[in-house]
Amino acid sequence: MTIDQHHRLKREVIPFSMPYSSSNELANVSEVLRSGHVHGDGIFTARATERLLGITTADHALLTTSATHALEMASVLLNITDGDEVILPSFTFPSAADAVARTGATCVFVDIDPATGNIDPQQVSEAVGPRTKAISIMHYGGVPVQIDAILSIARDHDLPIIEDNAHGLGGRSGEHRLGTVGVLAAQSFHDTKNVHSGEGGALLINDPSLVERAEIMREKGTNRSQFLRGQVDKYSWVQIGSSYLMSELNAAVLDSQLAAFDDIQHARFGVWDRYSLELEEWAAENGVRRMSPPHGIHSAHVFYLVMPGWESQTALISHLRAAGIIATFHYVPLDSSPAGRRYGRVLQPLTQSEDFSRRIVRLPLWAGMPEDYVARVIAAVVEFPGR
Ligand SMILES: Cc1ncc(COP(=O)(O)O)c(C=O)c1O
Repeated sequence: MTIDQHHRLKREVIPFSMPYSSSNELANVSEVLRSGHVHGDGIFTARATERLLGITTADHALLTTSATHALEMASVLLNITDGDEVILPSFTFPSAADAVARTGATCVFVDIDPATGNIDPQQVSEAVGPRTKAISIMHYGGVPVQIDAILSIARDHDLPIIEDNAHGLGGRSGEHRLGTVGVLAAQSFHDTKNVHSGEGGALLINDPSLVERAEIMREKGTNRSQFLRGQVDKYSWVQIGSSYLMSELNAAVLDSQLAAFDDIQHARFGVWDRYSLELEEWAAENGVRRMSPPHGIHSAHVFYLVMPGWESQTALISHLRAAGIIATFHYVPLDSSPAGRRYGRVLQPLTQSEDFSRRIVRLPLWAGMPEDYVARVIAAVVEFPGR
């Protein structure tokens, strides 16, 4: 490396994430434009859907405009309505709560297991009541929730699980692939995710009885999908729906990314493993906990550190920023957010969610992150004085 290159590299700001780019997106997109079929449900939608089913082993998948929309569809498909309650973690992305609140139902926020940031099954069990309509879970950073415990609570109370799998593509726990735990699961293909289509998502359907209504709901409330398959001779408005269909342009990008899924994951795990290994000693000396799920079960969506306290969280983020590195924390707990207070309730103070949110620092991670960027992040963290 020349001295000039060295100085340029030192000055470059390292972003928090970068969207993956495979070699085929442009070719796929131009094929769509030339084909004349640019709206949804074309050949790339079919291909991407097959690949998604291959990775998740879910029963059915419908590509959507976002995970937020897939979660909205889940609420409607499960007939969640005014007066119902849905149990969900406070430490999660707002879309899961939004999908509940827009139906008129109440969000019952529960706490997390501090080891993973995932919903605490004990708390779920305490929160179940006569108005509970569903349990909503999210695999934080792609680390599986305690699946057997959650499934057993759901079975005992005959409650459906809504699975926000925005982080978890490719993750698994025993025989459970993430995306198959809930009767309905949402994937996100936002450009911050391991695999993206710019904006986009999918609804995974693991209960065959919901497929027909889901298809209709996604197609403006019409049975157009059945018409296209030749199952009905004209299509019409059959129920309330919306336009949740992914365009072929996005599906063309998604197909090319899903085709590269193994390479993407290999590259992400390369960065993740380096952080984990090379920060081990520093973390032990400074009272910092590294994200530490067993290898292979998570999706390498994030790598985080849990700092000793809020002051060191803020100080490390500032220290990294001064070194030209963008690190972030995640999720203001929903129960303390303005909308969370309006549309939700808690049974007790959610101290673990609050504590986790005030101590976590997420480091930059993307597939294709240059080795010297990873080295710069590690060097800057190790320089941080800690306690
Ligand atoms: C856990 C989780 N759920 C849902 C979403 C929403 O995804 P989308 O942008 O596809 O609607 C996100 C987005 O970051 C997320 O992190």
